[in-house]
Amino acid sequence: MYPNFPITRLRRLRRNALLREMICETRLAKDDFIFPIFVAEGNQKKREISSMPNVYQLSIDNVLRECDEILKLGIRAILLFGVPDFKDELGTSGYDPNGVVQRATIEIKKRFSDEIIVITDVCLCEYTSHGHCGVIENGYVHNDKTLELLAKQALTHAEAGADIVAPSDMMDGRISRIRQILDENGFTEIPIMAYSAKFASAFYAPFREAAESAPKFGDRKSYQMDFANSNEAMREIALDIQEGADIVMVKPALAYLDIIRRARERFDLPIAAYNVSGEYSMIKAAAERGWIDGERVMMESLVAIKRAGADLIITYFAKEAARLI
Ligand code: PBG
Repeated sequence: MYPNFPITRLRRLRRNALLREMICETRLAKDDFIFPIFVAEGNQKKREISSMPNVYQLSIDNVLRECDEILKLGIRAILLFGVPDFKDELGTSGYDPNGVVQRATIEIKKRFSDEIIVITDVCLCEYTSHGHCGVIENGYVHNDKTLELLAKQALTHAEAGADIVAPSDMMDGRISRIRQILDENGFTEIPIMAYSAKFASAFYAPFREAAESAPKFGDRKSYQMDFANSNEAMREIALDIQEGADIVMVKPALAYLDIIRRARERFDLPIAAYNVSGEYSMIKAAAERGWIDGERVMMESLVAIKRAGADLIITYFAKEAARLI
């Protein structure tokens, strides 16, 4: 189809930086990024996560400062996770209208209005004493009872002014249940970003320190996906779309680029990828030791996620990467 060497020489277009720029196929933009923030109770709190350099649990006053900073850097979207003081069996602090994420959302919207997109994580694991993402019955996470609590939680987020709700629990049917409660309460215009293909992954470990959400017994394999499965990921995504998801997500990102690519080829709606905590920490740790160039590995990873087909990238690197774009 193409002429061979010596007519064709692919190195001709790689000869200098200008030529390489001209034919570059994938470019990161600041509005690709969503920056995760861990919101803690209290005041003037800023606690670094030991396994995630430069990532903090922040009290609301400091969250507002963080928003200022990210807006200056040109990032427009944040994803809020709650670190409540109070946890119980049913995760009630997660759907308390006065909960930490709800209050943070109100304050952010008061101060920044439409300048910033506030996305809220809808899940119970940060709020339950046992650390699982739902209601426990006989040692098992009860799907349908959990749906009711997630729906309540999503509603309180919308009432607080969240622009998008993002359920990360992996219960069956949660998207339609959340869509239903939002619509019944006049929030027909609030989109749902579904963590659709979320795998039971060891890459979440540093997050669980950040969000203090590690399960106290067992694991999440009865609700999160087996990392060996790709067809099933397509089913999860298709179901979430049928149930009303506006954006679907693949998580983690780097070990799952094939899933992102497959989803891209199959579905037309926006796809988000979560560049998770372990992916962040590994790069940071290796860079600290001088084993890799952290900045270059970061940019290479982010470009790879976009090249695979992600429209949006949730990443702890957002601020650092935005400075380099
Ligand atoms: C929990 C949740 C997790 C992450 C986002 N939401 C952890 C888990 O499922 O245990 C992980 C994010 C990361 O590792 O950066 N609902």
